[in-house]
Amino acid sequence: MSLTTLALAKGRTAKATIKLLEKANIHFPDFHEKSRKLIFYDTTNNIKMLFVKAIDVPTYVTTGAADIGIVGKDNILESNVDVYEMLDLNIGKCQFVIASKTLASLDEVNQLTVASKYTKVAENYFSKQNISIETIKLNGSVELAPLIGMADVILDIVETGTTLKENGLKPLKVIEDISTRLIVNKASFATKTTQIQTFMQQLQKVLGD
Ligand code: PRP
Repeated sequence: MSLTTLALAKGRTAKATIKLLEKANIHFPDFHEKSRKLIFYDTTNNIKMLFVKAIDVPTYVTTGAADIGIVGKDNILESNVDVYEMLDLNIGKCQFVIASKTLASLDEVNQLTVASKYTKVAENYFSKQNISIETIKLNGSVELAPLIGMADVILDIVETGTTLKENGLKPLKVIEDISTRLIVNKASFATKTTQIQTFMQQLQKVLGD
């Protein structure tokens, strides 16, 4: 049987994802958090795992470099790729939120400067609201931008709300629920149907536990 390639997101949800895979009897014996290795194997289930930066997971899957991917909905939306989204793994739950220091609401606003890691999501969202925006792409500590007058609002993921609160920012709008999802390359789903379905069934069995 040929190998199924899985692209798995590094970062804050990696530990919980590996734990879920282990519950589903998918084991990568060489994997440990501090390892610098990038490829791991589950020889029992014939799975090759690529351990990659979260924002790159959709790219690996859409190009066919990986058959399946496990990554947050935030990065799926930002990448805007043509893949099947098959399962919600209920890990890494948070929300896409628009927040500001000075604005009390987005009503009657028609122009904004938006700082975000997710500039494509921002462009899509605000164009639907008929608000014209200038985006400032930042790669972290996005909450700083409104504090120093760099942007009117931020669009970012919010989990506990602590970062917003500690920086005096107010959430104005929740625009999407985010969690870790399983995505599948469309051609792989046709050519490796049995392997991919088996993988999904193994995960589905333990999702409610
Ligand atoms: C994320 C996000 C927020 C924060 C939200 O940042 O961009 O800044 O977590 O979490 P909270 O609502 O629980 O406070 P991350 O920790 O990934 O670091 P970053 O700012 O470097 O991106």
